[in-house]
Formats: sequence, C-alpha cells, structure tokens
Amino acid sequence: MPFSRRTDWNTEMSDLARAHRARLDAGLPLLDLTASNPTRCGFEYSAELLAPLLDRAALDYEPNPRGSRQAREAIRDYYSSHGAAIDADNILLATSTSEAYSYLFKLLCDPDDEVIVPVPGYPLFDYLADAELVRMAPTPLVYDHGWQLDLDSFERSITDRTRAVVLVHPNNPTGHFTSRDEARIVFDLCERRGLALIVDEVFLDYALDTDCVADRLTFLARCPTVPTFVVSGISKVCGLPQMKVAWIVACGPGVPEAMQRLEVLADTYLSMNTPMQCALPVWLRKRESVQRQILARVRGNLDALDRLLSATATRWVTRLEVEAGWYAVLRIPALGPDEETVSALLERGVWVHPGYFFGMATSGWLVVSLLTPADTFAAGVREVLDWVAGRATA
Ligand SMILES: Cc1ncc(COP(=O)(O)O)c(C=O)c1O
Repeated sequence: MPFSRRTDWNTEMSDLARAHRARLDAGLPLLDLTASNPTRCGFEYSAELLAPLLDRAALDYEPNPRGSRQAREAIRDYYSSHGAAIDADNILLATSTSEAYSYLFKLLCDPDDEVIVPVPGYPLFDYLADAELVRMAPTPLVYDHGWQLDLDSFERSITDRTRAVVLVHPNNPTGHFTSRDEARIVFDLCERRGLALIVDEVFLDYALDTDCVADRLTFLARCPTVPTFVVSGISKVCGLPQMKVAWIVACGPGVPEAMQRLEVLADTYLSMNTPMQCALPVWLRKRESVQRQILARVRGNLDALDRLLSATATRWVTRLEVEAGWYAVLRIPALGPDEETVSALLERGVWVHPGYFFGMATSGWLVVSLLTPADTFAAGVREVLDWVAGRATA
C-alpha cells in the first residue's frame, strides 16, 4: 500500500523498549523513575472533580469552534491569576497541546517549512512536526551554571523556510524558565526575521522557588511584540491528562486574522466535547489541591536526590540545576552509550530515561521523574548511584 511521507516512521520496538516490556511481562520488580502520569502517582483526587460532569448543560449541543465562552472565561481568569490580562476572544480550545500544535503548524507553515525548537526538549515534537510535514530545526540549550538559550545558535538556525520559534517555558526536561532578558532577545530576533513565537507553558505552575518572579512570568504578561501563541492544558495545570482539555492563547500583532484562521481549522474538526468544557471552570478553580501535592512530591524527591548525591561514594553523579517542572537531569560519566547504561540499570531493576530520549546529543545523561512516589524514587536513585560508582571505579 502506498503510504504518505509524513507517516514514514520506524515503528519497530527498540531493543530497550523490548527489554522493558519483557521485564514487565515476566513480572519482575521494577523501580520506575520515568513516571509521568499524575493519576498513577498516588495523589489524592477529590471525587468532587467528577461532579461537574453531571451538569445538565452538557445535554445541549451548541458548537463553538473557539470553545464555549464559559470555558474560555475560566482560562482568562487562570491567566489573570498569573498577572496577565487577556481577552477570552483570543483563546481557542483543543483536546490536547498536541492538537494545539497541529493547528498552529497548519496556521503558520507550509510543507517543508521550518520551526526552531530548543533541545534537550519535549520528545513528541518530531512526530508532531512530521505529521504536519514541517521540519524541526533543533537548536541546543547550553548549560553553564544553569540552562540558557544559545541565542547565537538560534539566529544561525534561521533560514528562508523558518516560520516560527518554539519555546517551552519552563522547559521539559531541563526545568529552565526563559528569563526576561532571553525573552526580550527572542522577541527582537522574531521581529527582525518575521517569525511567530509558540510558547508551551504546560509546566508554568510548577516553579520550585519564588525568586526572580519576572523570569517566571507567562509570556502573556510580557507584552509580545511579535505574533505569539501560548499553549497549555489541564494535563499538567490540573493534573488531569485523561480529561483532554488544552488551549491556545494568541497575543501580539496579527491576532484577529490568526484567530479567524484558527477558528476555521477548529470548526473543521469540532473536536471539543461539551461535558469537559462545562467542567473546566470547576477544575481550574480546584487546581491548587493537586498542584500542592505535586509540588510537595517534586521538592521532596529533589531533596532526597541531593542527600543521596552528597554521600561521598556518589561523587560520579551530579544533578543539573532545575528551576521548575517534574524532571531532574543527571550527569553521569560518559563511559558508554546511554542506551547501554539504561539497559544495565533495567537489568538491576531500575527504569530511567536516557538523555537521547530528549535529544541530548552526547552520552552521559539520565533523566528521572520527580513525580515518582518517594520510596520508589529513593530506592531507584540509590541503585543508579551504586551502579555508576561501581562502573566508574571498575
Ligand atoms: C512540554 C510539554 N508540552 C505538552 C505536553 C503534553 O500535553 P497534553 O497532554 O495536553 O498533550 C507535555 C507532556 O509531557 C510536555 O512535556
């Protein structure tokens, strides 16, 4: 059968994925340090969250391609609590940030156009771009006393096919916020080169300290001078990935026409369902309960990691600075490909992400989820540190 170029993916399971599957199928114990599904991490979700799904208003179908006004006003209020005054007319709902990206790539790019994306970063971008026939131009983040955008490299990556820059603020997995100064330079770059900006803020509410508030602001409160599209959703904001509500907020120049075009795209699919839109205001109002639990887990695991790292036998491993989010990046001696490291750890009963999963170009990087239940996290990290120390001194 002739298939499209956009779906020309290698769908074979990797050796690592096969070994992981085999271990699970064999019923062997596994300390999973990659947990990213908050509904499976032992957080308390109130049964009250289900109550708005019984709203009789959901029995009436009144399709609105931008999403119901009530849902959009709830999103407007969410941003107001972040210090950004936005108009509910400039919001468009989607079922996931993936769907939001698909709309934005369709809005901004023709086939083979390019979008600049910082790496390490969210691994799904490659697939999202392939599906829209858009090319990703990966641009490295640099680590020097904290992560930073490599702004020269951004500029060098721009070609006459470049249409947009994507920022993840704070980034996954590095936990790096785009600082006020970096944002100013990116605005300037996009303005000079005629590019739009897409900013993924799904982890915005998960800052680990409250210093430098100006560096942690939503881009919607930064008065963008270029067309800017902020995407987010309740999979992270409310810890409810199963409910499938996300959004795009447009700001900066060119908003009315962008919104009209986005509206036609959304009208073509009308993928939002009514019960979720009815429930969204309640879920957003109640978001702090799960956010508090997640932040306590993340902080607790980070403290545990630091205590374990400060033990003398583990000087081979360091943790990179993390400002926000659900992950920690570990630097380990680059004694071999990260795939071998992760495979050896799997045999010892620990499952971690290799750095290349997030686009790290060199070996010597592991990524662990700070969402992991505390006992599993500490036991898993101990195993990782023992294994690395044994390898490094062998
Ligand atoms: C940066 C980033 N954006 C978006 C998502 C997923 O959002 P959604 O569930 O709305 O597709 C993730 C999931 O981990 C993510 O890391």
